[in-house]
Amino acid sequence: MTDIQVCIGSVCHLKGSYDIINKLNKLITENGLNDKYKVKATFCLGNCTGAVCVKLGEEIYTVLPETADEFFLKNVKGSAE
Ligand code: FES
Repeated sequence: MTDIQVCIGSVCHLKGSYDIINKLNKLITENGLNDKYKVKATFCLGNCTGAVCVKLGEEIYTVLPETADEFFLKNVKGSAE
């Protein structure tokens, strides 16, 4: 099981953390990856300048609600196969 940690610190929250969490949960379910990935909310990851911080493994990505699909396809679904 891999955690996908989405920052819900105040800065990221304003940029759409919850939309991203909802989108990622939906995509994970649609793709049958519920047993592989779990989306978790986390506090400030210390990189508030970009879009919403999302930590996957040791990597920190910046994701927007509009780019959540792209992030999923590239970094989650892509690496699960
Ligand atoms: S609030 Fe998200 S990284 Fe700081």
